[in-house]
Amino acid sequence: MKITRKNGLKGTVSVPGDKSISHRSIMLGSIADGITEVHHFLQGADCLSSIACFRQMGINIENNGDIVRIHGKGLHGLKQPSDILDTGNSGTTTRLMSGILAGQNFECIVNGDASIQSRPMRRIITPLSLMGASIESLKGNDCAPLKITGKKIKGIHYDSPVSSAQVKSAILLAGLYAEGETSVTEPVLSRNHTELMLKGCGGDITSNGTTAILRPVERLEAQKIVVPGDISSAAYFMAAGLIVPGSEICIKNVGINPTRDGMIRVCQAMGGNIRMENIHEVCGEPVADIIVSHSNLHGIMIEGDIIPTLIDELPIIAVMAAFADGQTVIRDAAELKVKESDRIAVMTENLSAMGVDITPTDDGMIINGGKTPCGAQIQSHLDHRIAMSFAVAALASDGETEIIGSDCVNISYPTFYNDLFNLSK
Ligand code: S3P
Repeated sequence: MKITRKNGLKGTVSVPGDKSISHRSIMLGSIADGITEVHHFLQGADCLSSIACFRQMGINIENNGDIVRIHGKGLHGLKQPSDILDTGNSGTTTRLMSGILAGQNFECIVNGDASIQSRPMRRIITPLSLMGASIESLKGNDCAPLKITGKKIKGIHYDSPVSSAQVKSAILLAGLYAEGETSVTEPVLSRNHTELMLKGCGGDITSNGTTAILRPVERLEAQKIVVPGDISSAAYFMAAGLIVPGSEICIKNVGINPTRDGMIRVCQAMGGNIRMENIHEVCGEPVADIIVSHSNLHGIMIEGDIIPTLIDELPIIAVMAAFADGQTVIRDAAELKVKESDRIAVMTENLSAMGVDITPTDDGMIINGGKTPCGAQIQSHLDHRIAMSFAVAALASDGETEIIGSDCVNISYPTFYNDLFNLSK
């Protein structure tokens, strides 16, 4: 993909459904009783991996590209898959599904692509093992492939060392099958979509600060789920609207759950013209239209409790920082090293190639912005968020930018380039 400077991005865009919520709709729909109907489901490769895995376990999932209908078989209706469960590039499928598998009465193997096979799984192996599950990293390196032998498990209280919704959710989903109460405390509250959706389908779950407490129930009920637009996808249009001169973009129907809205707060703190309209609630999730226009941004400090609320947006925030006057410091974000790629290293490599002054640190990066970046050859490292971040950077940079491995946007946003380029027509 080759991209050059554009002027004045104008118009309205509707981003695809939220990735986290789409995954959860498949998992909870599969173990609920009845038909779960999902509207605005994200048809990205990651969520299709979740569909494929649950189909392998005997769940009938109809997907007509618009509405997904999951014929749930109840908490104890999954059957042993006859083959390896392939989670593709999806950390969410791998970790959340492992929680469900921990409580089944069968054994199976979970594996994914090269990126998944290098991502840390100790973080779920430890708590699920404490619950009594048997999970083995077959290569002995704490990564997938994982052999999971479902067991009779028991509830635990777990003090998670990381603020990770994937870890929290894996434990809570296992808790559905455990004897007694299961609770998870995390340092900072991570996205709470599992808790909200569980509540929506009749789960017994409460939250107290950064602790989620779940008690097993006899059954979960199917529900109609309307998935809000993904704020992590909307983030690319927020950034594009702010950094491309002459732009004004309206992003419709974006989920603004407070555990996910750090990007909006950062845009405001950097001096961005950004506002929300039409705020309402859909299936327990707050939703709004977001309007952005070109702004003179300035650098800021990003650290502490806000980090989990914008963890997936840090690559595009780093791009905004390159266009902002002064220094932006990102701290407390060591988790970036264990995402689809090492996002500290990959952002440093690629922003440096564009002539941006960036220094990687142990838990983030320091960017001295304000000098127009130069087009360069960008290595996506097959990380969708890296490809999309640099497609946006290219729109306001000198010369031509070429993104190697640009197709990886299919993971979370198959129509990304079309939607982006439509705004500059
Ligand atoms: C996700 C949680 C986050 C996020 C990922 C999706 C989820 O990961 O980065 O893209 O759906 O629960 P961690 O739990 O590793 O922070």
